[in-house]
Amino acid sequence: MPETTITVRDNGNLRISGSFEIVDAAGNVFPVEPGRPVFLCRCGHSESKPFCDGSHSRVGFQSVVRAPTPEAAAAEDDAQP
Ligand code: FES
Repeated sequence: MPETTITVRDNGNLRISGSFEIVDAAGNVFPVEPGRPVFLCRCGHSESKPFCDGSHSRVGFQSVVRAPTPEAAAAEDDAQP
């Protein structure tokens, strides 16, 4: 079991749970409550980046992504030159 799980949520944010810290480009740590999941914006419309503020719903953000199945990943590997 990984220490940290990042879930790409359908038509929404990134949910991060587990043990982690979030820092800015200067290395300063964003305050987060230990043990509680955090939701990061991936739509680009949040007014409180890097965190999600729910704006993705207002703007109708749509993105559904799925990790490749082991079979698909193997087929892609076979297709590599
Ligand atoms: S993903 Fe929620 S505001 Fe961007």
